[in-house]
Amino acid sequence: MANPGDFAYLVKQQADIVRIVGEYMTLRKSGAQNFQGLCPFHQEKTPSFSVHASRQFFHCFGCGASGDVFSFVQKIENITFPEAVRLIAEKLKIPLPKMSYSSPEEERQAGMRVGLIEIHERACKFFQDQLRRPEAAHAREYLASRGIAPEIIAEFRMGYAPDSGFLLRDALRGQYDEALLRESGLFSWKDKGDEAADHDAVLYSKFRNRVMFPIANESGKVIAFTGRTLASDEKSGPKYLNSPETPIYSKSRVLFNLDKAKEPIRKLEYAILVEGQMDCISVYTAGFRNVIASSGTAFTELQARLLGRFSKNIVVNFDPDTAGAAAAERSLALLVSEEFQIKVLTLEAGFDPDLYIRRKGVAAYGEALSHSQKYFDYLIERSRALFPARTPEGKVKALNYLLPHIQRVPSRIVRDEWANEISHRLGIESAVLRQELRHAAGTRSASRVNALSATILTDAERVLIRALASQELSHSAASDREGQDLDFEPARQAHFALSRERLHSGSAAESLIDFLLLAQEQGLDPMSLPLEEDARSLLASVLMDEHEDLTPELLESSIRSLRRRVFRRQLEDLQQQLKEAERQQDSALAARLLQERLSLRRAMSTMGESA
Ligand code: UTP
Ligand code: MN
Repeated sequence: MANPGDFAYLVKQQADIVRIVGEYMTLRKSGAQNFQGLCPFHQEKTPSFSVHASRQFFHCFGCGASGDVFSFVQKIENITFPEAVRLIAEKLKIPLPKMSYSSPEEERQAGMRVGLIEIHERACKFFQDQLRRPEAAHAREYLASRGIAPEIIAEFRMGYAPDSGFLLRDALRGQYDEALLRESGLFSWKDKGDEAADHDAVLYSKFRNRVMFPIANESGKVIAFTGRTLASDEKSGPKYLNSPETPIYSKSRVLFNLDKAKEPIRKLEYAILVEGQMDCISVYTAGFRNVIASSGTAFTELQARLLGRFSKNIVVNFDPDTAGAAAAERSLALLVSEEFQIKVLTLEAGFDPDLYIRRKGVAAYGEALSHSQKYFDYLIERSRALFPARTPEGKVKALNYLLPHIQRVPSRIVRDEWANEISHRLGIESAVLRQELRHAAGTRSASRVNALSATILTDAERVLIRALASQELSHSAASDREGQDLDFEPARQAHFALSRERLHSGSAAESLIDFLLLAQEQGLDPMSLPLEEDARSLLASVLMDEHEDLTPELLESSIRSLRRRVFRRQLEDLQQQLKEAERQQDSALAARLLQERLSLRRAMSTMGESA
């Protein structure tokens, strides 16, 4: 939370949410203060994501995501609040104060990350240099034999890790202390016996005699490596060796080549996903620049989210019959549940994208790409191939193969469509089986509950909420307006009416309004309150949807309308009790209730309400 006086507050004051959000997605002006775009947090075809310029917050009417500039950056970058503050401060070139770290430990960690990035940059240059040396002739030959031109080597900053375990260490040792070198993940070490202190341990390179591919983060900084062996014997380790997890590298958050591919992905509105680094480089070199690689492991949720920011359309080009098939299946499953629009490109058996392009050419690959199948069609085809028997048993087996795939689809409507389509395509005539399929497809518990819709509030409630949240604007924007009633303090007036009469009791926004009352008493910014997801979303949607100016008349009539509602409810209540008293023939109670009803009706008529 940003409070007056702290660094976050300072940053927030200078940050323009429209500009910052605009760096991550396309926004279009849609009103005096509003900007709109496709929500980066859920799949949609028409924009329901809005950014409010003067109030400095965002809200999605589709998925309910909302918050200020920090929550946006936190959510989209998948980082913590302090990191979001720092990131925005850097964008705005606001110097970071030392004390912006919440603890010395945090500061140490941050320093370490800077050091590790430097080490990786140095190591990358080192490997590049090594590739030009006479000792690397076999590495250059290898790359040439795989059709990789010098420009590509340079563009991907490929390098060579020498067979010696010490050259890299010696190149870095002068500038970085050993503890940091160990954290880098580039080295292994053996401890020298019993009383050996740390510095006696001998560091040596993990990557030896390998072609090195740097792995960059989204902004192009090298944070890890993968090295392909040049040796043919088993002893030299796995074919591809990857950096371990380090403070700057987490495998599940990185996509190989995303730094280069993100703009092409955005422009072409789809991504091509391949398994291997070599495949990725080949496809990229062939001119399909929107390609990324999962590096042989299954796609993670974080990777899906990362990619989803650029496009939610993906062509998956895995080889379904390799050892990686299980990982590929899991990746597809995950992409389905993250609501990607998926197509599958299946090349002939035995061909990975790299081999296909080299043997058959760029045009052939492009042709294959343009014929990639919709995921659904691919699944049907696969179920037929796995269970070819057109007998009732065969069909049940095919169905059971397909079911888990259907159930992963978040949208109930799409699941229904799939179930129908499957019955049709597999030729399932049995009504019972069709019924069962439809039922099974329907049973997935909805994983995404749409945010409480603002439409459940009455106009009067919405006006009161706006009034309560208006304290900031009443100082700046509102006072600039010509002819503004200087005594009009909507927040104070709303607060007075609501807290004294509890006009909001029983409203769908009761707890939200209570929160706003509290915030106002404590002089807090309502958008930075620790609200429940639903309440914050409700608040944002009300504030985002300001169609009429907040005038004294509007506020007054809204308060009256709430008051009438309270009276009406009390009246209904009384009628009920009266009925009950009459049924029980309790005439004393009935007389008292009648009296109450009379005074209530009087009060109502003085307000101009007939009852
Ligand atoms: P493949 O074995 O299919 O290799 O692994 P490839 O990409 O065709 O490699 P080349 O063409 O022989 O050079 C697919 C991917 O799985 C990961 C790598 O990311 C590789 O690109 N992998 C494979 C590893 O991480 N470690 C391994 O030992 C093997
Ligand atoms: Mn290959």
